Amino acid sequence: MKNGTFVIGLAGGGCIAHTHARVFQSIPGVKVLAVAEPVEARRKEFTEKYGIERAVDDYSKLLDMEELDAIVISLPNSLHAPAAIDAMKAGKHVLVEKPMALNAEHAQKMVEVQKETGKTLMVTLQGRYGTGIQLAHKYAEEHLGQIYYGRCAFMRRSGIPGWGSWFTRKDMAGGGPCADIGVHALDRCLYLMGYPKPVSVAASTYAMFGPDGRGKGDWGYPEPDGYFDVEDLASAFIRFENGATVILEASWASHWPNRYWVEVLGTEGGIICSDNIKIYTDRLEAPINITIEPEKDNGSLNMSKHFIECCKTGRTPDTSAWHGLVLNKIFDAVYQSAANNGKQVEIDW
Ligand SMILES: NC(=O)c1ccc[n+]([C@@H]2O[C@H](COP(=O)([O-])OP(=O)(O)OC[C@H]3O[C@@H](n4cnc5c(N)ncnc54)[C@H](O)[C@@H]3O)[C@@H](O)[C@H]2O)c1
Repeated sequence: MKNGTFVIGLAGGGCIAHTHARVFQSIPGVKVLAVAEPVEARRKEFTEKYGIERAVDDYSKLLDMEELDAIVISLPNSLHAPAAIDAMKAGKHVLVEKPMALNAEHAQKMVEVQKETGKTLMVTLQGRYGTGIQLAHKYAEEHLGQIYYGRCAFMRRSGIPGWGSWFTRKDMAGGGPCADIGVHALDRCLYLMGYPKPVSVAASTYAMFGPDGRGKGDWGYPEPDGYFDVEDLASAFIRFENGATVILEASWASHWPNRYWVEVLGTEGGIICSDNIKIYTDRLEAPINITIEPEKDNGSLNMSKHFIECCKTGRTPDTSAWHGLVLNKIFDAVYQSAANNGKQVEIDW
C-alpha cells in the first residue's frame, strides 16, 4: 500500500467484475488499477467505463504488478484455484468469487497456500453481509437454543447463465445451480446454524431443461456452439457432526417461481429469512411471531469494505477459505451421491 491507497487488480473482466469495479471504486482510499481479460471488447469496456488505467489479456500478467495489494478473481471456476494460488504466492491478497473452487481438492490447496503465505483469502459470499442476515444470526446465536434442522433454497424459473459457456460445462464450472447459486443459500443456512461440520450427503440432480436449450437466463455470455453437461436442479440432504441436518434445493430452471430463502429450527425458536426475517418462538407460554423488515443495504459494499479491513489488519474474513472448503466438500459429495443413484456419501476430513 503506497500513500495510504489500497490498490486492486481485477482478474477477469466479465459480468460480475463490473460489480467489483463499481463497488471498489466507491470506497474511499481504494484504487482499481488494472483489469486482466482476454476478450478485447470487454477489456475496452472496463478502461472506458471505469477509467481503469491498465488492461492486460491474462490474469498472470497482474502477478508482477508491484503496485497491486490485492487481486479480485472473477474467472471461470476452474481458474479460481490456479489464479488464487499464483496471486498469494506473488504476495497479493485475494478476494475470490464463489464457489471458492472447482472442487474440494482445489479448495484444499488454496487453504494450504493461504496458511503458508499468510495472505488474506476471502470468498465473495455477499449474502452474508446484509443487515437482515446479521440480525438473524445474532438472534440465532443468542435465542434459538440447539439448532438442529435447516432448509434452504435458491430456485430460478428460467435462469441458466451463459448457456454453452464455461457456466454449463462440468470441467470448467464444477457443477450447475447447486454450486453456482445453491452456494449462497447453503452458506447463509450454515452461518445461522454456527457452521457445523458436514459428515455425509445424499442427493439427486436433474437436467430437464438445459440439455434442450430451455430455461436460459440473461446472465453471462452464451455460446450457441457450446454444450450443457451439468444439472439444472439439485436436491440434497446433508448431515452434520452435531446431529443437525439440512435440505438444500437449487435450480436454474423449473416450473416453480424464483425463490431464495433459508430457514432454521432450534429448540427455542425458528427463523425464516427471505425478503424479510420472520422469527417464531414462545412467550408467556404462547406462540408469538416477529417480522423484521431489515434496511435494504448493500451486501456487496459491506463485503468489499470487510475485505479491505481484513487485508489491512490480518483479521480472518467472515467468509473465509475454510467456509469455501466446507461448501466445496459438500458439493463434491452432492455430485458423487447423485452419480450413484442418491447413495449416501461420507465426507472425508
Ligand atoms: N457473487 C455472486 O453472486 C456472483 C454472481 C455471478 C458470478 N459469480 C462468479 O464470478 C465468476 C465469474 O462469473 P461471471 O458471471 O463474471 O462470468 P463471465 O463469463 O461473465 O466472466 C468471466 C471472465 O473471465 C475471463 N477469463 C477467462 N480466462 C481468463 C484468463 N486467463 N485471464 C483473465 N480473464 C479470463 C473471460 O473471458 C470472461 O470475460 C464465477 O466464479 C461465478 O460463479 C458470482
